[in-house]
Order: sequence, then structure tokens, then C-alpha cells
Amino acid sequence: MKILTVVGARPNFMKVASLHKAFKKYDKEITHLLCHTGQHYDANMSDVFFRQLELPSPDYFLGIGSGSHAEQTGKIMIEFEKVLLKEHPDLVIVVGDVNSTIACSLTAQKLHIKVAHVEAGLRSFDRNMPEEINRILTDSISDYLFVTEKSGLINLGNEGVDDKKVFFVGNCMIDSLVSILDFTESSDIFEKLSLGEEGYILVTMHRPSNVDPEDRLEGLVDMLNSISLHKKVLFPIHPRTRKNLERFGLLKKLSGNILLTDPIGYIDFVALLKKSDLILTDSGGIQEESTYLGVQCVTFRTSTERPSTVEEGTNHLVGEDFKIAESVVLDVINGNMKKGKVPELWDGKAGERISEILVNELVPEKEVVKS
Ligand code: UD1
Repeated sequence: MKILTVVGARPNFMKVASLHKAFKKYDKEITHLLCHTGQHYDANMSDVFFRQLELPSPDYFLGIGSGSHAEQTGKIMIEFEKVLLKEHPDLVIVVGDVNSTIACSLTAQKLHIKVAHVEAGLRSFDRNMPEEINRILTDSISDYLFVTEKSGLINLGNEGVDDKKVFFVGNCMIDSLVSILDFTESSDIFEKLSLGEEGYILVTMHRPSNVDPEDRLEGLVDMLNSISLHKKVLFPIHPRTRKNLERFGLLKKLSGNILLTDPIGYIDFVALLKKSDLILTDSGGIQEESTYLGVQCVTFRTSTERPSTVEEGTNHLVGEDFKIAESVVLDVINGNMKKGKVPELWDGKAGERISEILVNELVPEKEVVKS
């Protein structure tokens, strides 16, 4: 049995690391290959994650890089088809909601190769987000849909997906978080960034709707300058955001008590997240990681595809109005916090559940030898 798993962009690496570890138990039944599309390619957006998550070098690297949506998706499909025609895998696994996810699931299905989607069923109900289109399309053509939270079961049910294909397994991103938590204790990032005891607000921002239009980005810069009057702000800048800050001449306008850095590796980032007073973000995965860690998260978006982080966790969904976001941030640092709990099955074992289900589904019973 041959399984080919696809990674493309930064948030994919944590999810696949957990699966890769879980498949090792079945190395007699399953050959597990890894294909990296190269959607993210900078060392600090890709290589560092492979190293820290102990992922092997990919068996295939497509080197696609950046481009418009059609360009990126189309190039991935053309190159991925060649890999599939050479390897003839029994199953392709895709994770998350990035362009690599839809490109590779579509290519596989057109060659009648089964597809499993990890992190299925999430919906923001906002079709202006490229990720929402990727989620809907990938789910609609997948044979196995692995769901991280209860809302996913409801959404897929509402879309008429046969429930025999749907499995509630928990969260592979949390598996990786659990597995590296001990290493964060020895991170030297606090000394490297000269972070003292006074506390800080961590900020990440990269959604096109927040960082592509000049007026939105300018509003963001003003908001961060204003928040930094109350508490130190630490802002690791995503390449998309940096490019736009430079293009609009806004980088130099970030002033005050703001520490800017390049994107930060996984272990150091989780160490920083764990110790932060709060995180202000528009990321998807960080909403989940902060809920798991019990860190207050202020999400600068109008919707979330991860409602359990708001209903059960520590996530405050504040919309995209700068004044409202700023007032919620100040409220939280003044003590108005959410007491969250960890959603069901976010226990570090999602990868194990997925591998067990797939082995049972795909490998004839007499051949299963768990080592
Ligand atoms: C992509 C995903 C998004 C995910 C995010 C995590 C899609 C549609 N979007 O967005 O869901 O949350 O990754 O980071 O798949 N760039 C570099 N170096 C890199 C990668 C990108 O400099 O290694 C720059 C390029 O200028 C590129 C821009 O960042 O044009 C955006 O990259 P892209 O892959 O198009 O989308 P992201 O914004 O990273």
C-alpha cells in the first residue's frame, strides 16, 4: 500500500509531521511518501519546520513558488500529475486549506486515485477567502474526511456528504504542538530578542483582506502603534505582509514599543506564544494553538472556520474594525479574560487515529502487523 502525502505551505508541516510519525508504526504495510509543492520556500517558512518536526526530506519537491491563484494552482497540478503517474499511489493525503490542498486533491481524483482530507469540514462561510473555496472543493471530492471539531460534522452533514466517509479524529496540528512543548522550555528566543519580564503582545497578520489593501495596512500600523503605548508588541512579519509594508512605505511608520522580526521557527514561536499576554492574529492555526495553551487570542477577522475556539476556547473574534480590536486588546490585558477549555479529542492522538482508520480501510485485514 502506497500513500503519498502533500505539503505546501507553512501551516501544513505541523499537520503532516503527526501523520508521518503515526504511519511509521505501519511500515510493513504502508510506504509513506512526501511531496512538497514548494508553495512556501523561504528557509524560515519551510526548512526550519522540517528540521524541528523531524520530517524527512520530501521524496518530491515541485518548486512551484509564488504566483497568482490560477498560476500557482495550475503549476502544482501539472507537476503533481507527473509524480502520480510515476508513483501510482493508492491514496493521496492533503491537509488544511491552501492552494496546494485543492490542486493536489483535484489532480489525484482525475486520475481515479483516492483522496483523504485532513482538517475537513471547517467553514468560515466567507467565500471571499481563498481558503474557503479550497475547503469546499476539496471536501466535495474527498473519499475520507477527517474532522478536527464538531462543527465540521455539522457542516459536512448539511452539505450532504455521506457520513460513512466522515471521521471525527481530533487535531493533527495539536498533536505536533503537544510533541514539541517540552522543547520550548529550552528555547533561547527570549534572550535573543532581549525580552524582559514586562510582558508582550504577540502579533501575526497575513490575510490578503488585512494586508493587501494600502488603507487596511495603514490602519493596522496605526492600531499597533497605539496598542504599543500600553504593552510591548512583538511582530514577526510574514513575507506577504513585509512585501506590502515596504511597497506602501509603511514599515518605517511602525514606531514605539514594537519589536519587528522575520518569521520565527516553530519551537521558538510556540515558546513565545505560551508566554505572551495575548496574541493578536488573523491566522487559522494560531486560534487553535492558543486555545490549547489557554492563551488569550484576539482574532482580527469577521468570521472563523474554527468556532470551537470561540465557543469553548480562549478566542475573541473581534471583526476587522481597528478601534473595536484595539479596545478588546486593552480590555483583555486589563484582565477581562476568557476561561477556555480544550475541545474534544485535541489530545495529541489525531494522527494515530487517522493512520489506524486508513490502515483498516485500505489494507486487507490479514496483512496488518502493527510494529
Ligand atoms: C498561504 C495560504 C494561507 C495560509 C498561509 C500561511 C493559500 C491560498 N493561502 O498564504 O491559507 O494561511 O499560506 O502562511 O494557499 N512568500 C515568500 N516566501 C515564501 C512564501 C511566500 O516570500 O516562502 C511571499 C511571496 O511574495 C508571495 C506571498 O508571500 O507572493 C504570499 O505567499 P502565498 O503562498 O501566495 O500565500 P500566503 O499569503 O503565504
